[in-house]
Amino acid sequence: MIDRVNRSSSRLAGLAVYDAHDSLIALTAGYEPLRGKMPEYRGRQAAFDTAAASFLRIDGKKLYLYQRILSGESGRVGMLAAVYDAGYIDRQIVGIWKNSFIRWFVQALVIALVTLLVIRWSIMRPLNTLVDWMKDIRTHGQSRRRPPPAFFEPLKQEVDRIAESIAEARATAAEEVKLRATAEAIWTPERLKEEMRQLLDGRALVAVSNREPYMHVHRGKSVESIVPASGLVTAMEPVLKACGGIWVAAGMGDADRETVDGQDTVRVPPEDPRYTLRRVWMTKEEEEGFYYGFSNEGLWPLCHVAHARPTFRIEDWRYYQQVNARFADAVVEVIDGLDQPLILVQDYHFALLPRLIKERRPDARVAIFWHIPWPNPESFGICPWQKDLLYGMLGADLIGFHTQYHCNNFLETVDRALESQIAWEHFSVRIAGHSTLVKPFPISIAFTPRDLEPGESPTTAAELLKDHGLKAELVGIGVDRIDYTKGIVERFLAIERFLERYPAYQGRFTFVELGAPSRTHIKRYADMVSEVESEAERINWRFKTKTWKPILFLKKHHSHQEIQPWYRAAQVCLVTSLHDGMNLVAKEYIAARGANDGALVLSRFAGAAREMRDALIVNPYDIEQTAESIRYALEMPVSEQAERMQRMRQQLVSHNIYLWAADLIRELSAVRLPIKPPAEHAAAEEGPQ
Ligand code: G6P
Repeated sequence: MIDRVNRSSSRLAGLAVYDAHDSLIALTAGYEPLRGKMPEYRGRQAAFDTAAASFLRIDGKKLYLYQRILSGESGRVGMLAAVYDAGYIDRQIVGIWKNSFIRWFVQALVIALVTLLVIRWSIMRPLNTLVDWMKDIRTHGQSRRRPPPAFFEPLKQEVDRIAESIAEARATAAEEVKLRATAEAIWTPERLKEEMRQLLDGRALVAVSNREPYMHVHRGKSVESIVPASGLVTAMEPVLKACGGIWVAAGMGDADRETVDGQDTVRVPPEDPRYTLRRVWMTKEEEEGFYYGFSNEGLWPLCHVAHARPTFRIEDWRYYQQVNARFADAVVEVIDGLDQPLILVQDYHFALLPRLIKERRPDARVAIFWHIPWPNPESFGICPWQKDLLYGMLGADLIGFHTQYHCNNFLETVDRALESQIAWEHFSVRIAGHSTLVKPFPISIAFTPRDLEPGESPTTAAELLKDHGLKAELVGIGVDRIDYTKGIVERFLAIERFLERYPAYQGRFTFVELGAPSRTHIKRYADMVSEVESEAERINWRFKTKTWKPILFLKKHHSHQEIQPWYRAAQVCLVTSLHDGMNLVAKEYIAARGANDGALVLSRFAGAAREMRDALIVNPYDIEQTAESIRYALEMPVSEQAERMQRMRQQLVSHNIYLWAADLIRELSAVRLPIKPPAEHAAAEEGPQ
């Protein structure tokens, strides 16, 4: 058997037989390495009765030793020991590891390859399309390539905006070079920004108005921001966009509260934030008394000579005081910790605000700009609180009006109403130890040399009218808040007269009125909407045909983007205000006439008539004259249109909103602050009553 074991190739490596005294009596060759080492293991045998097994490592080889007691009748007769080669266990473990490793490695490789392919096809390819598209935009300003896939849309929109800014910056740089070369004193947003950087020298700029530049409103389930129809907003927004700063205004949109942060602020414009809008809240009663009541039923008709009788109620006056105080708190809060800020108070809603701010922050430089006319002293004198209003305004360091005429009216009103010193030679008033400068700053719009370029060819009148089921080759345009000061009914009467006098225009000329209902909570305004509607209806009924009518009255708030095509398509624009501070519609129409054609019919009672001397100036109460001006405008030779339009556009470029802001802010920052706060002098001098 021992011999057979010697020859076998199984895992049994060797066998040995011991006698009863554990002396080796026979062994195979494979057992040889254990010879002599046996006593060591023999000791262990004492611990077992029949069999034992253990792993051993001898000369680096792993062995498995099995020992079994051999018993006879007389008891133990010896022991059989078998040794097995156990190295295969290690080899198998290594094998298992090797196999697993290779399997995992192959799997990982396959996954990596698939991932790479997926990235290449679904990310790298669209990304490359995006990169090529962006390269085109960077180099040519636009791309004719296939736009990047839809899931890059948000990125695409951002890039579009960046591209616009780059194009704007390039155009500005080119313009700057041109301007430097011609040494013209033209104002651009960049020049204003630079001038403001130097003038403000780190001080804050704060604008305050009732009307906010962006109003958030609910539209179905979503919230939209709209730009209200307001000359004040049209003018001030580009200034804040160029200079940055804080605009404090009443939050009147039904979604305004949802869109502010914990400080009641929101960054605007929503799509490209440049400045902070701080909203102030009013109760319904305050809105009624302050906004509708005292501001718009009292001061508005008081300052506009449009034959609407002002209404003065003591409760409205109380709310006016209360809301002015609320805004003073808001301004003082936003300028807390800011040294010598510049505050630009806007309009008739805040006559009391300058003094309220100055009393608490004598280091602030405060201006108030009055966007509406200032009437003569007799007219203003009917206001029971004229002294308080004047005294409040005279808390400012600077008071601005659109025209010198309004400045003169204001100073004469002060002269009549208050005990004060007026220095007529430099238009300043001194009262209660404080001096106020009174100056004209004709307001304007954002129009720069870049805007003198003709631009794309406009949509034609016929195309625009087609959307309304009408046909006409000539179009006139009017854009207004529906307000009794705008002379809309007088304008319609003039159109009627024009069609009577020149019947050849019937069927050829349509006047489009884009009228935004405004302040309709006030009966006079609600009545005005009906009056305008029924006049349009009456005239249309008289002349209309199946496919044509003389007046298309589109009663809704139109955005700037919606108004532009009409300005560009209309051969004539009618601005027939019965009384108007400036009227920026007149300037916007001129700005839109890139081809230097078209004509403006403009009321002599609008501030704009003092600057736009090449308009056809009319007295809107004179229906015959306005009717004749419409005919003249439509028949004006092209060369005359070009000459007039070019001159008005040049005037607009050189007297744009950036010049307005630069002049106003320069004047305000030049104000010398008193060494002692004026309150200390105040006791010695007289107040309003
Ligand atoms: C005039 C006033 C502005 C006012 C605008 C619109 O332009 O001067 O202060 O914002 O009308 O009126 P509303 O009452 O809608 O603000």
